[in-house]
Amino acid sequence: PGDPLVDTHGRVHRDLRISLTDRCSLRCTYCMPEQGNEWLAKSSILTLDEIVQIARVAAADGVTTFRLTGGEPLLRQDIVEVVRRLAEIQAPGGGRVEVAMTTNGIRLPEVLPGLVDAGLSRLNISIDTLRRDRFRDLTRRDRLDDVFAGIAAAAEAGLRPLKLNAVAMRDVNDDELVDLVAFALDHGAEMRFIEQMPLDAGHTWDRARMVTQDEILGALAERWTLTPVPGRGGAPAARWTLDGGPGAVGVIASVTAPFCGDCDRLRLTADGQLRNCLFSTTEYDLLPILRGDPGDHVTLIDRMLRACVHGKLPGHAINDPSFLQPARGMNAIGG
Ligand code: GTP
Ligand code: 5AD
Ligand code: SF4
Repeated sequence: PGDPLVDTHGRVHRDLRISLTDRCSLRCTYCMPEQGNEWLAKSSILTLDEIVQIARVAAADGVTTFRLTGGEPLLRQDIVEVVRRLAEIQAPGGGRVEVAMTTNGIRLPEVLPGLVDAGLSRLNISIDTLRRDRFRDLTRRDRLDDVFAGIAAAAEAGLRPLKLNAVAMRDVNDDELVDLVAFALDHGAEMRFIEQMPLDAGHTWDRARMVTQDEILGALAERWTLTPVPGRGGAPAARWTLDGGPGAVGVIASVTAPFCGDCDRLRLTADGQLRNCLFSTTEYDLLPILRGDPGDHVTLIDRMLRACVHGKLPGHAINDPSFLQPARGMNAIGG
């Protein structure tokens, strides 16, 4: 324990994405069927203490960022306590870890003060469309106003950078790209467009229908002069300033411009499985350690983290003919 988590390709892992639940308050058509997926068994969901045990070992091994995901992380009843306990974790040098969250924004106005007080540093909020009818069709819930309220609350709370995420989809929202960027700028936020990945519950992803990074940039270039921002590090988003800045936009082009060579991420599912990639087909089960014999859990968790990192492939295989979508849906991985 204590050594950095370096894989066989030399990548150092500093970011752990923690999925807190596979449930969600929306039913985006590209993610879940109307009735929801078959939910993870309640008994298998990690408790607050179990999450903290794992996170402490990860931090000792050099992980500096915890990002809370779902499903929808705000559906966790103990979400404020989760943030508080994670934010208290000390990095080896004595510094603090960063706790961030990716959310659909619903319920944010009521819980945000508690989250900020607990030590939340950053928020990414998903919003695929600004139009009520489209939002209802896409998410199967008429809750766009709740999302707007959540974004307004986040903007007012002053958490920066504030990022907004939209999956770009042909004939769904591809005529709103400029409007979405303008909306983000109005809120002091940064819009990021995501190329759709083959992680949908229905396995209906179609490369030919995917809106690509080039198309996204083409649409935005009609309105702004885009200048690439250098120094992306391990971030999934490539960024461009708009008309020289300070406003900027990001594109997460996992399919047409993969960024796996700089990947610094590990994932923990709500039911205690470590994953070394969004697309991995192997999982490393922590439940038997956490719920098994009392003993040296730190050493055992550390070993499992290292096994997971060791097994990481150089990159995803979306562009290989042999690509197979993982069994677990996006809502149970956390994005
Ligand atoms: P920042 O740290 O703020 O840049 O967040 P992020 O962009 O890493 O996370 P977010 O949860 O906002 O995810 C936005 C999109 O990026 C989602 O579609 C994620 O599935 C995708 N994403 C996040 N991390 C990875 C990754 O390591 N690989 C791939 N292929 N996609 C990722
Ligand atoms: N491809 C790309 N992004 C996706 N998201 C959900 N499913 C997919 C997919 N198949 C996005 C959500 C949210 C983020 C966490 O991941 O819309 O913005
Ligand atoms: Fe990392 Fe896998 Fe994402 Fe590539 S696809 S950046 S390896 S998580």
